[in-house]
Amino acid sequence: MENAACTLNQIVLGLESSCDETAAAIVTSDKKILSNLVLSQQQHAQTGGVVPEVAARAHLDHLDTLIVKAMDEAKVTFKDLAAIAVTAGPGLIGGVMVGAMTAKAMAAVHNIPLIAVNHLEGHALTARLTEDISFPYLLLLVSGGHCQLLIVKDVGSYTQLGSTIDDAAGECFDKTAKVLGLGYPGGSALEKTAASCTDVTAAQKRFALPRPMVGKPGCDFSFSGLKTAAKRMIETLKPEDTADFCAAFQKTVGDILCDRTSRAIDAYLEQAPTSPTLVVAGGVAANKTLRAMLEQCAAEKGLAFAAPPLKLCTDNAAMIAWAGVERLQRGLTDPIDFPVYPRWPLDPAARR
Ligand code: KG4
Ligand code: ZN
Repeated sequence: MENAACTLNQIVLGLESSCDETAAAIVTSDKKILSNLVLSQQQHAQTGGVVPEVAARAHLDHLDTLIVKAMDEAKVTFKDLAAIAVTAGPGLIGGVMVGAMTAKAMAAVHNIPLIAVNHLEGHALTARLTEDISFPYLLLLVSGGHCQLLIVKDVGSYTQLGSTIDDAAGECFDKTAKVLGLGYPGGSALEKTAASCTDVTAAQKRFALPRPMVGKPGCDFSFSGLKTAAKRMIETLKPEDTADFCAAFQKTVGDILCDRTSRAIDAYLEQAPTSPTLVVAGGVAANKTLRAMLEQCAAEKGLAFAAPPLKLCTDNAAMIAWAGVERLQRGLTDPIDFPVYPRWPLDPAARR
């Protein structure tokens, strides 16, 4: 239940540092994003993946100045803040600790309530910042580290219907893009390359990639077989076929996501939601082809469809600040000694 405090317009500072984006944002309880700054660490492109120690040091170098900039841009001071919300996991623990310790220090000095946010809850609730979506909704969370289907029943209340048994969809995009020489992280570069394909159906026939789990019972995903098959195909790929290959790969990922999501929709509808909605979130949800396929899949089953604007799909601090607003409205603040978690499932009963 929301408490009386929610009638006031509250301002929350959000911090994110769980992977390779250092981010700070100011968001209000009446859904205004006053600032939203994201610094993507470029140094990981050289290693083709995030080196945790390098990422943590880079967060330490930049987070404080980014906070000052975010507060200046929003024209707020510490006196204006109703709370500081910070990612407390899951993620690369060195980076998470940089964010958590920074938030704790500011909260202690300025006597401001603290909110320890689950990064996945940040992704899960973003659509409620940009649209009016009521609980319960079905969520497909697709990012570099996660691929899950969950029923979002309320803030802090989730039922996981399925998850990947191996790689996340974003990881599959990134590894494939890397083998193609498209850089790291390569999801959006792969999407851009695929845009030059003129006949996706023909491309998918030529590059017949496996679709693990499709047609199987349940809502779990698997992407490692697709990743390996894509790598093998790329070894003999002619440069002029790159766009067609990327389009076929992207469509194959879409087929897998739609098959699993459509099964999850059936399970979700058994709960007779009042306004059935499919929400897609996480970095991979920035992909326009996948959004269109999932929207179609939702429409076929009579569900409304929502996906955050592209900038709020990939990691950012506005989503952490918003999760903070939602928690603050329910009186859910945390003590200054809150712990940080490398692993933190949204549904504690989930097996993986
Ligand atoms: O949510 P996110 O920023 O970080 C995690 O929490 O993992 O997601 C990053 C992932 C990366 O794998 C990236 O390649 C992927 O999202 N991604 C995309 C696109 N934009 C980002 N994948 C496919 N198409 C895109 N346009
Ligand atoms: Zn994320």
